[in-house]
Amino acid sequence: MTSSLISTTLSRRGFIAVGTGGLAALALASCSPTPPRYVTPTSAPVREAELARAGTGRVTSVALRAAETQLDLAGTTAETWSFGPVPASTIRITAGDTLRATVSNDLPADTSVHWHGLALRNDMDGVPGATQAPIGAGEKFTYEFVTAQPGTYWFHPHVGPQLDRGLYGALIIEDPNEPLSYDDEWVVVLDDWLDGVTATPDEVLEELNGGMGGMMSGGGMGGNMMMGARSDLLGGDAGDVRYPHFLINGRPPADPETFTSAPGRRVRIRLINAGSDTAFRVALGGHRLTVTHSDGFPVNPVDTDAVLIGMGERYDVLVTLGDGAFPLVAMAEGKDDKALAIVRTGSGEPPTTATAVPELTRSVLTAETLVASSEVALGTRDVDRELTATLSGSMMDYDWAINGRRFDPTNPMAGALGVSQGERVRLNIKNETQMWHPFHLHGHTYQHSGEGPRKDTSIVLPGKSLSVIFDADNPGLWAAHCHNIYHAEAGMMTILGYTAS
Ligand code: C2O
Ligand code: CU
Repeated sequence: MTSSLISTTLSRRGFIAVGTGGLAALALASCSPTPPRYVTPTSAPVREAELARAGTGRVTSVALRAAETQLDLAGTTAETWSFGPVPASTIRITAGDTLRATVSNDLPADTSVHWHGLALRNDMDGVPGATQAPIGAGEKFTYEFVTAQPGTYWFHPHVGPQLDRGLYGALIIEDPNEPLSYDDEWVVVLDDWLDGVTATPDEVLEELNGGMGGMMSGGGMGGNMMMGARSDLLGGDAGDVRYPHFLINGRPPADPETFTSAPGRRVRIRLINAGSDTAFRVALGGHRLTVTHSDGFPVNPVDTDAVLIGMGERYDVLVTLGDGAFPLVAMAEGKDDKALAIVRTGSGEPPTTATAVPELTRSVLTAETLVASSEVALGTRDVDRELTATLSGSMMDYDWAINGRRFDPTNPMAGALGVSQGERVRLNIKNETQMWHPFHLHGHTYQHSGEGPRKDTSIVLPGKSLSVIFDADNPGLWAAHCHNIYHAEAGMMTILGYTAS
């Protein structure tokens, strides 16, 4: 996510110039106007794509105020930044309707809001330096776009490591013709928390940027860097950052949320990982989960005991409830700690993090086993363009990069991946590092090659590759990055740009 550098270099200068810097120099040399190389966020193709979404015209308006606040973590008070409660109040809208969200920035810093997972109009994607100027302190910005696709989404800023504060919330786009039947629906947002307790995210980023060398020579002071977080499911090193708390819906295990229902009722649980450096292994003690959606899109339903969720990923699951009080646990993968909520349908002592949850170590679902529902499968078609995103870097130097280049917010289009509108694209994500990364593409929901699930964020294990297919049908400039916020900020980010014709 773009660092605060961008606010000084791009904020008031105009983001339209993005990508034309090098060409402007060429144009000067030849004394003839040179067309921009990439479609800009405010160009005609972006407007046309929005019109093609054929919305209902109905508008849902929300106000989001980003401000300093305090979060009570069972007795520990954390000074943080949020949109009111943590998570923000869930935004609900019906697919086809227009979301009008007015963001007031009462923070002492620039911010923005990114609508994670949505194929929306590019100028509303919330990426300063690529799609808009940052929203300065004291300023307002109104996001307005058609919400075309039902599903479980979320929102967060795209400025520095602000995502690792309390600035996040769920965005649920309801299907006017919902095919699933269920009695209750719960939104479960997972998070790793340190802000205002052990450090701020900016301090953590600074510490990590010092690398392990800095730490060993005594330069790294904070002790927020974590070593030895191991997970077989994640192929080794599980994370870089030590968190004092793991939260479900903003609450620690000592003060858990209780979901109340009745035995036999069927519940749809929308799981969202809003963490910054933690994958969660989620299970509901005494129950099996039926996974129905990956990142908002339907899959052929699969039963499992637990599910692994990387940062930015979402899974929807259906559960038929038993009688009693059950732990809904999110184990911080490789970090020896847990987030907890309680599901109560009858009597019984409330479970704690000490309650055994054997489901956590039975079958754990990951995306590879999923198959897209036929109605959202992309179908066979020749691939027009093949792109590669090679992930590199190490914890030692904290030099995370894509295709050998660390993202430079002052020159965001350097190393951009180009596509032309209308193409079927294959993107090969190659992880050449010794650590897993949750790779995220904005503005598109690709399909894992073969019959795999539709997704916008995917775990790529160390030394492995993931090949995905998408249709280039949403023109603009789209960030693509690791959803470990510290990796993204250190440079594991690039832009997918539609070339201008
Ligand atoms: Cu959750 Cu760039 O995104
Ligand atoms: Cu990463």
